Amino acid sequence: MFTNILKTEFPRTDNGFAESEGMRKLKYLLGIDLGTSGTKTVLFEETGRAIASETIEYPLYQPKNGWAEQEPEDWWNAARDTVKAVIAKSGVKPEDVKGVGISGQMHGLVLLDREGRVLRRSILWCDGRTQEECDEITQTIGKERLIELSANPALTGFTAGKILWVRKHEPEVYEKAAHILLPKDYVRYRLTGEYAAEMSDASGTNLLDVSHRCWSEEILEKLHIDKNLLPPLLESSDPAGRVTAEAAAATGLCEGTVVAAGGGDNACAAVGTGVVVEGRAFTTIGTSGVVFAHSDRVQIDPAGRVHTFCAAVPGAYTVMSCTLAAGLSLKWYRDTFCQAECQAAKEMGVDPYVLLNEEAAQSPLGANRLLFLPYLMGERSPLLDSNARGAFVGLSAIHTRRDMLRAVMEGVMYSQRQNLDVLRGMKVAPDAMLACGGGGTSPFWRQMMADMFQMPVRTVANREGPALGAAILAGVACGVYEDIPSACEKVIRLNEAQQPDPERGAQYERYYRLYEKLYPAMKESFAELSRLD
Ligand code: XUL
Repeated sequence: MFTNILKTEFPRTDNGFAESEGMRKLKYLLGIDLGTSGTKTVLFEETGRAIASETIEYPLYQPKNGWAEQEPEDWWNAARDTVKAVIAKSGVKPEDVKGVGISGQMHGLVLLDREGRVLRRSILWCDGRTQEECDEITQTIGKERLIELSANPALTGFTAGKILWVRKHEPEVYEKAAHILLPKDYVRYRLTGEYAAEMSDASGTNLLDVSHRCWSEEILEKLHIDKNLLPPLLESSDPAGRVTAEAAAATGLCEGTVVAAGGGDNACAAVGTGVVVEGRAFTTIGTSGVVFAHSDRVQIDPAGRVHTFCAAVPGAYTVMSCTLAAGLSLKWYRDTFCQAECQAAKEMGVDPYVLLNEEAAQSPLGANRLLFLPYLMGERSPLLDSNARGAFVGLSAIHTRRDMLRAVMEGVMYSQRQNLDVLRGMKVAPDAMLACGGGGTSPFWRQMMADMFQMPVRTVANREGPALGAAILAGVACGVYEDIPSACEKVIRLNEAQQPDPERGAQYERYYRLYEKLYPAMKESFAELSRLD
């Protein structure tokens, strides 16, 4: 069965390079992508070709409306078992796996006791319980000073508010805490036995002095967080440790294999798509939507509408937006209104989104004058408003489900365009875009992106994104590659671009200008709605 999977997923193009004698011995790199729905581990040749992949899912716990938690032990089990599976599937000798890299969902709080035992479930990036603590942080540090230091305002998704929440609501847990880690740093700790953090992920804690790439003494002091709780900081491509004997026995890796510091998921996606030099950018339509640009110097939006983080490239930065319901909006529409399409797709053996794309394409541009606001989970970038909610605006008896479907897709893309405009204002926007994530695989959505952004949109031939980025970081850490940009140059291949159409662009522009006016007009109503029983 494994052989079949291997053949269909990753057909070998030559005469069995892995086993063949006399050929230069290939080196292999492992990328672990610790996501929110599951962990995906991919084994790559040093050429960037994926040869085996395995994903294991785990639960998301929502003990209250707006709360989101996961069990760190589930992450470790998934990482351990996916690593074991890809090594077995690939037939590659463990000693030929030269390095391991980890990409991770950002911001989650992992608390460990003195012995390294997990003290409570991790509170995740999409958990919204900490508005009070964020207000407290803003008040204590001062809004401007906080943005100056941590490059971002206090946000409920970020880690500092979660630390304050546990201290306030679960003092008996906080008292026992000896180590604060981020999700992927915990998995790396289980592999290496070393406590470490790195710049890209630490940027999402509100505790890092992002410009100076160090923990901010000022923020820590003012928030009364003991610096000893935080691990030492590395750059993403630094070696962070080696696989221990215990982890080797559990995963099938060789004891002593180098483990790179790794990075936050978006920073790793940037490496895996070659967005590691100025002028490059990508837009991800995953559950959330991200517009991400590389910058060689630190650039901060004084209004905090988009995030400034350290890049995986040492000394470099990223400016990125994060909207909370991009692919999630389409998934919501699919699950709520498209049972017929889902059933038909099942019978035809195709992905339901393929049918939905065809349906949406039959509605004209502008969806017969229907607009959709994709704020189903509140909104982070650029609105920073957890009370915002979704809306169809302009509904008429003429509209069909097709129009509503197209309006959802257009609304998601208008929200990405709004963030691109913030990046444009900061002069970090590129003149070409890479499309990533599940939504990025849709040619229809990509064309919409090209038309609305008025720039060519391409995809990366190797679709592994964050896992490939993590493997490249591993390659730099263990000396297979010299540095990140030259590794990307060797490994990343792009597909043909989809070109923007100026006429459609002009039509979209008129709708977009109207879309921009809707949230300010409805802001107060959303706040009032949130206060109703
Ligand atoms: C980034 C963010 C998400 C998470 C989960 O700020 O919150 O991208 O990293 O993927």
